[in-house]
Amino acid sequence: MIKLHDKYFVPYVTATELDEVVSELARNLKRDMEGEVPVFLSVLNGSFMFTSDFVKKYDGDCEVSFIKLASYCGTESTGTVKELVGVNQSLKGRSVVVLEDIIDSGNTLEVIYDLLKKEKVKDLKIVTLFFKPVAFTKKLKIDYIGKEIPNRFIVGYGLDYDELGRNLPEVYQLKRKKMINLVLFGKPGAGKGTQANFLKEKYSLKHISTGDVFRFNIKNETELGKLAKTYIDNGELVPDEVTINMLKAEVEKNLDAAGFIFDGFPRTTAQAKALDELMQYEGMQVDATIALEADDEVLIQRLLERGKVSGRSDDQDEEKIRNRFTEYNEKTAPLTEYYKKQNKFHSINGVGTIEDITERLSKVIDSLVAVNTMKDK
Ligand code: IMP
Ligand code: MG
Repeated sequence: MIKLHDKYFVPYVTATELDEVVSELARNLKRDMEGEVPVFLSVLNGSFMFTSDFVKKYDGDCEVSFIKLASYCGTESTGTVKELVGVNQSLKGRSVVVLEDIIDSGNTLEVIYDLLKKEKVKDLKIVTLFFKPVAFTKKLKIDYIGKEIPNRFIVGYGLDYDELGRNLPEVYQLKRKKMINLVLFGKPGAGKGTQANFLKEKYSLKHISTGDVFRFNIKNETELGKLAKTYIDNGELVPDEVTINMLKAEVEKNLDAAGFIFDGFPRTTAQAKALDELMQYEGMQVDATIALEADDEVLIQRLLERGKVSGRSDDQDEEKIRNRFTEYNEKTAPLTEYYKKQNKFHSINGVGTIEDITERLSKVIDSLVAVNTMKDK
């Protein structure tokens, strides 16, 4: 971990990985530059290190030129881009390749497109080392992307935080305050939803119920929702990748939460691995999985009661309920093992008053908070 000004940053992309990403960008561009002598237009300041490495790896004739733009203040985009040094050579009739260190909101890119419109270039391509898809608000073409990253501030390899950090040979990511991310397990009727509602208030967590996320995406006809619907309409299971992308969008919408409660996901070991990957991408981790345990006969009585009130057909038929339990047992058992190996599995007695059960869950969560506080010191 490093400190720049008042903030802490953790290692994110190694020098080796940067080298590989830059090499691949240079190779891909060269392949498309048949017979051309491109003018590389490097966008200062951030791109100086990327430009230096990129042109060394570009195996062919080329020219190098610079423009200087600025839009950031500290770790926040200001929304206005200042042109500090403009294009100072004729680019008319040339193949111009813009070299950007990072594209975030796209404000800078928009200015670059405007700037070059006047230049009557023959061809324009945009190469960026980093791209933050969640932050990007424009409909502008980016031809080559080195690495897509989450919407999180990074420094190093030319990128700065208030001018510090540009000289670092690897990339660091702004340290996230410690979150508490939980997975709630439990058979139908175990009280996951009820408990999640109490816990999210008590600990400022965001409750992500896969069922709700699905319904939201389908109702609002998001791209992922439409995709999911094609599978559902064909009577097929929605692939994990689609579900995880929906969860990713949900996580990225709620980055100011103190943590997340995942409910209804993961259901299989493959999904647990996918969730771990998502958490790692976001610079987070699953801290604990908590299973609400209750005897099948107790749950059946609860569900039959609930079915009478809610009218949910799948809660009114004992046979169907037992089938859902069997499925749970088959799929969740290996999942329990997966989390036990990581020392993250907790089991809670799910029989008692709602308050009693919240109390039991809180004990587990409070112990995680205590550990986090210790780690932050
Ligand atoms: P945009 O105009 O929002 O696309 O931002 C582009 C400029 O903002 C980049 O050229 C950087 O100078 C700066 N920037 C955006 N994200 C980061 C970051 O994570 N670290 C450092 N600088 C950034
Ligand atoms: Mg830049």
